[in-house]
Amino acid sequence: MCGIFGFVSSRQREASVVFEALRELEYRGYDSWGIAVDTGGRLAVEKHVGPISRATAALPAGRAALGHTRWATHGGVTDANAHPHLDCSGRFALIHNGIVENHRELAARLGSGHCFRSQTDTEVLVHSLEERAGDVDLLPALLAVIRDVQGLSAVAVLDVCTGQIVAAKNGSPLAVGWGDDGIYLSSDPAALGTHAREVAFLEDGHAVALGDRGAAAFDIATGLPVTLTRNRVECEAQRGTLAGYRDYMTKEIHEQPEALRRIAHDPGPAALGQLFEQAREIVLTGCGTAYHAALSGRAYLAAAGRAAHVAMASEMPALEPMLDADTLVVALSQSGETIDVLEAVRAARAAGARVASVVNVPGSTLDRLCDVSVHLACGPEKCVLATKSYTGKLAVLQIAAGCAAGRESETRAAVAASADAIETVLRQEASDRAIRRAAERIAEDQHLFILGRGQCYPAALETALKIKEVSYLHAEGFPSGELKHGVIALVTNGTPCIILAPDGPGRKEALAAAAEVRARGAFTIGVSPCDEPEFDLTLRAGKESTALFEIAATAQLLAYNLAILRGCDPDKPRNLAKSVTVK
Ligand code: G6P
Repeated sequence: MCGIFGFVSSRQREASVVFEALRELEYRGYDSWGIAVDTGGRLAVEKHVGPISRATAALPAGRAALGHTRWATHGGVTDANAHPHLDCSGRFALIHNGIVENHRELAARLGSGHCFRSQTDTEVLVHSLEERAGDVDLLPALLAVIRDVQGLSAVAVLDVCTGQIVAAKNGSPLAVGWGDDGIYLSSDPAALGTHAREVAFLEDGHAVALGDRGAAAFDIATGLPVTLTRNRVECEAQRGTLAGYRDYMTKEIHEQPEALRRIAHDPGPAALGQLFEQAREIVLTGCGTAYHAALSGRAYLAAAGRAAHVAMASEMPALEPMLDADTLVVALSQSGETIDVLEAVRAARAAGARVASVVNVPGSTLDRLCDVSVHLACGPEKCVLATKSYTGKLAVLQIAAGCAAGRESETRAAVAASADAIETVLRQEASDRAIRRAAERIAEDQHLFILGRGQCYPAALETALKIKEVSYLHAEGFPSGELKHGVIALVTNGTPCIILAPDGPGRKEALAAAAEVRARGAFTIGVSPCDEPEFDLTLRAGKESTALFEIAATAQLLAYNLAILRGCDPDKPRNLAKSVTVK
């Protein structure tokens, strides 16, 4: 959460460099944005509420600039709470990603006379810095401030006295980039692609000083120099553009067939399959959509004769006592930066477990933390909703489980068939019309229930998540077998219920569940390969071997249509961020 981008150059550069880069990082948070430019001894600052993609700015050029896109934690969404925050003298502009847990205590330690202009947990840092930097350079002053901070953070400061940017990392990601026109700092290597030739990731507990002569890194605890390991930039291709699509959600939904075909031939899942074979215990973990993929992964493993545990990454501490050297923990994450996932993996490592990831962003913190990483390589996913990274994770897990069961070619063929099946859902006018009709029928409703059984239960959870996060229609996924144990009490006349009823085991029971809710007045929408009397409306999907993928694409399109009908921005749902880097 929160995007950070800055540069230091030996020549004047337009602040639009930072403005454009922040647009690349907007998915990290879009409550507000702000940029500070060093105009040669003076700070020029602009900061506003709202997404930077809808903004214009008229900032002057400078030799250094620093910007931020905010996902609010402490303090409302206001211009004053937007970063950067300035000290009283106007020497420092400071930005922050994370939470300063002890901000009140730090504020109480300050001398008198500081003028606070925001309600954030961040601003205390810039006033602390102001007090400390009186006699010493910026770097030792920042190290001293950061040593007192509790909580996971990345902090960066622009100093107009020295023209430097100094940054410190403890938990939240920061990368340094070297280019022809200067040195860059970014929370995400994706924004460095067009500027930098080489990139280095800052380690936790390290700080970096960027000046026009280069970058030097230091250990925060000791102040001693540390080495920055520079690698060639591979993120230019990561730049995402709309390529003619009306929004990223539509684009990324339509990129799924190609992504799945690539995974069907990728050697990565086989390496994961070997780890599955070797492990005594397997734990799959992730957050949000990645957690739903983990639930499906457990079913793929069960079909391969392997038992697995699944835990939301935030709930992993409960499983920590069972982790040891014979356990394999597989973390699923699009961004590779989700804080709960990273903490789960660090704890697993500390317990001696093997750790592997299925991750979309190469070079992300998760990628670098794990013994083995399978890259989804499905290209940048910019829409806050996970779409292609979800089906990509399903495909990797299906193949890896198949490999562990000696059925590699069969499962690779199944994934290739799923790519074709999704393409059919996306191309068929009839399916498009039916999905629209379903969306129109339920767009005005308050509640929606999605029923699934067996492999369709995680699919029901994912369908509900897609719908609620993008259209704000309250949708809940339930195991249809549990219907009569409480949920059915919520069904009244006209209540919309989606019943996932693909071919295969569980279809008979799904039809029975549809009949039961219909008998109580529900409006039933079947996701089914054919019409049935139990359904008021049918979305045609769900041939047995490709069902999960067809259901996923159908759910994504339904959620998209609902978002449009309900006047919601499909790429930037309210209150959310693509990458959740705070607890
Ligand atoms: C956020 C996103 C979700 C995503 C989840 C996990 O909540 O909005 O779309 O599923 O984080 O993200 P990850 O990057 O770890 O897959």
